[in-house]
Amino acid sequence: MCGIVGYIGQRNAFDIIIKGLKRLEYRGYDSAGIALINNEGKLNVYKTKGKVSELENHTIDKDISGNIGIAHTRWATHGEPCTVNAHPHFSFSESLALVHNGIIENYATLKENLQSKGYIFKSSTDTEVLIQFIGHIMESNDIDLLTATQLALQEVVGAYAIAVLEKNNPNTIIAARKSSPLVVGIGENEFFLASDATPIVEYTDKVVYLKDEEIVAINREKDIKIVNLYNVETTPEIKQITLNLGQIEKGGYPHFMLKEIFEQPGCIYDCMRGRINMEADNVVLSAVIDYKERLLNAKRFVIVACGTSWHAGLIGKQLIEMLCRIPVEVEYASEFRYRDPVINSDDVVIAISQSGETADTLAAIELAKSKGAFIYGICNAVGSSIPRATHTGSYIHVGPEIGVASTKAFTGQVTVLTMLALTLGKANNTIKEETYLSIVKELNNIPEKMKKVLELNNQIIELSRMFTYAHNFIYLGRGFSYPVALEGALKLKEISYIHAEGYPAAEMKHGPIALIDAEMPVVVIATKNALYDKVLSNIQEIKARNGRVIAIITEGDKILSNIADFCIELPDTIDCLEPLVATVPLQLLAYHIAVCKGMNVDQPRNLAKSVTVE
Ligand code: F6R
Repeated sequence: MCGIVGYIGQRNAFDIIIKGLKRLEYRGYDSAGIALINNEGKLNVYKTKGKVSELENHTIDKDISGNIGIAHTRWATHGEPCTVNAHPHFSFSESLALVHNGIIENYATLKENLQSKGYIFKSSTDTEVLIQFIGHIMESNDIDLLTATQLALQEVVGAYAIAVLEKNNPNTIIAARKSSPLVVGIGENEFFLASDATPIVEYTDKVVYLKDEEIVAINREKDIKIVNLYNVETTPEIKQITLNLGQIEKGGYPHFMLKEIFEQPGCIYDCMRGRINMEADNVVLSAVIDYKERLLNAKRFVIVACGTSWHAGLIGKQLIEMLCRIPVEVEYASEFRYRDPVINSDDVVIAISQSGETADTLAAIELAKSKGAFIYGICNAVGSSIPRATHTGSYIHVGPEIGVASTKAFTGQVTVLTMLALTLGKANNTIKEETYLSIVKELNNIPEKMKKVLELNNQIIELSRMFTYAHNFIYLGRGFSYPVALEGALKLKEISYIHAEGYPAAEMKHGPIALIDAEMPVVVIATKNALYDKVLSNIQEIKARNGRVIAIITEGDKILSNIADFCIELPDTIDCLEPLVATVPLQLLAYHIAVCKGMNVDQPRNLAKSVTVE
């Protein structure tokens, strides 16, 4: 959560930084601020409540000159979203300005200590405590900013990515990270700093991903110097980024979310490329081959994830149990990390995360690692913290996901889980050759089937208009479609703010059926799979109570088209691959309802894309 951008070089810092902040707005957007040192050595700080565009308006008549600056777009943790709490924050003497992503857990103790020495605080943030603390160490010991930052961070408990400007040193930015991402971009006589590579990609493809507890001194005239908290220097590992600008822009779509929904056929193709052969009769996930023994000897798999990634995990459980006959448990990372879970050295933990930065998932990985488990990561963001914390894993390769509501990452995660289960099942001899071949072949057809579903967009727009009024929705599914129902409900609630619940269809009669009346839209995934007849009965039960059924059915299903109030027809596929096809209309339904309601689809209230706080 929160996005950080910095620039030092020969160009005007403001323009580069504002553009960068806009690219990072998906990380938080309740307030924003910028600190610049102008050519006369004046440190100017501007902050506003609201989005980056508000900051831009606010600075129209201000001095925005200078070729060094840092900035921030915030997702509030400590203190309400307002100008005072927005970053950057000053040190007591106002000679230092700092932006911060993360949480300083021991801020209250540090603050009390500083207050006892006469320090006064303007904001309610943990961030102001940190910069006042750094300033205090610097001034009371008469040491440089880098050393003061090292000493301060040795005392800090919590997570941080920070960038600091010093009024009296307009040639250097000091930045550091622990459990929150930070990337340095290296250009020609200029450097960039950002929470991820998206603000940098336009200017350079050379980046250095800072590691935990590393501090970088970025000097305009020299180079970058990386040290740890105890001043041990390391050589920067320069990596090349493969992102391109097209991947992080809307490309003619009104929202990133719609673009990302429509990208899915291509994404699934990219995800499978090099992993499924031309003949579509073999899947190779290199991570599985490299660690075959370790994976096949697992007594149990435990999947840890949050939100949409957790829903993908529920599908992964069914796939792995069905095709590999190895028991699988699926845990919310946030619960797992605070229980005392039974984890043994012969367990394999699969951590699923789009951003690769989710704090709870990272903590769950560390806990499982400490108990000797082997960790397999399934991530999207290349070079993020989770892939670095795992023993091995597979990227989903769906490209940057910028809309806050996860769409293409979900189908990418399910695709990788399918390939994982197929590869393991084949190596384990727990899958019949015939079944293996039919799934691999059909997996190859999924991008085309997704395209057919996307052609239903106009029909779904019409449907959405009819349901914009609704205050509640129920989503039902069974088997592989149950997690799809959960995912459909989550998509709707997070972007349209309509209350929505997902249930296994048969659970209705154990309580939720009491909610059904003529006002209640019920979305049922009722395709022609092994549980079709059972779901049909569940639909009859809803119709008998006047519920309004929107059924997701298989093309040509005459029975349901006569019973349901509205039908969305999908191309037929194999049961275990159905989530890849059936999720798409639910994403579109949520999207169009939210658009009809006039909601900010890409940046829904209270949310942020990357949840780096617990
Ligand atoms: C929902 C959504 C969230 C994320 C969750 C985990 O649309 O995006 O529920 O799925 O915050 O994030 P990652 O996958 O980045 O670990």
